[in-house]
Amino acid sequence: MYILVMASRKGGAGKTTIAVHLAVEAQRAGAGPVALIDTDPMQGMTQWWDARNEAVPVLFKGAVADLAPELRKQGYRLLVVDTPPSIGEEVALAVKSASLVLIPVQPSPNDLRAAGSTVGMANGLKKPLAFVINRVKPRVRLTVQAYEALAPHGVISPLLYDRTDYAAAMNDGLTAPELDSRGPAPAEVSALWSYVASRLELTA
Ligand SMILES: Nc1ncnc2c1ncn2[C@@H]1O[C@H](COP(=O)(O)OP(=O)(O)OP(=O)(O)O)[C@@H](O)[C@H]1O
Ligand SMILES: [Mg+2]
Repeated sequence: MYILVMASRKGGAGKTTIAVHLAVEAQRAGAGPVALIDTDPMQGMTQWWDARNEAVPVLFKGAVADLAPELRKQGYRLLVVDTPPSIGEEVALAVKSASLVLIPVQPSPNDLRAAGSTVGMANGLKKPLAFVINRVKPRVRLTVQAYEALAPHGVISPLLYDRTDYAAAMNDGLTAPELDSRGPAPAEVSALWSYVASRLELTA
């Protein structure tokens, strides 16, 4: 079972949004069954799951290290873990279990600076990481600056644009591709999952 851990000290970077989008896409792409664990006291992922009417992915309550062996036994192939915006002990515990740490970063100078401490944690625990540049607006300069700032510190996945569908879908326990299968989000999410899947294979 692969364990994908979302982490960023910066609040609002997109951890919860990307966690559930990847979990649903992985399940759709046949990489499931997918389990979820929400380690954030704010419980954003749990609220999404409570609002959801689909049977999958399945959310479990408990600590990653305690639950992972049991989920593995039950046949789960991917576990997606959401974490609070911190570099505290609770996040370190999740990162310790990770096959891959995914760090969402918005293309703003503040976000780029804040990413450093999360990178430090993943590196300190010798965990492979990837950045997801999230909420990209059609402003090429900021995006290029983000690539330049992040590239020396780790690999960068396909990006997600700033789209109302990502936020709107979350309120109803859905994802953007489920909300509008003909919009631009499905291709974006699918490209991101394909990339993450290939990275997970490499870390196996
Ligand atoms: N690509 C996107 N396009 C549009 N809105 C987005 C996108 N990604 C995230 N958002 C919105 O940005 C806000 C923050 O996203 P999210 O809650 O996923 O971040 P987070 O890192 O989990 O935050 P926290 O650290 O507070 O838990 C939410 O309102 C979400 O709907
Ligand atoms: Mg969150």
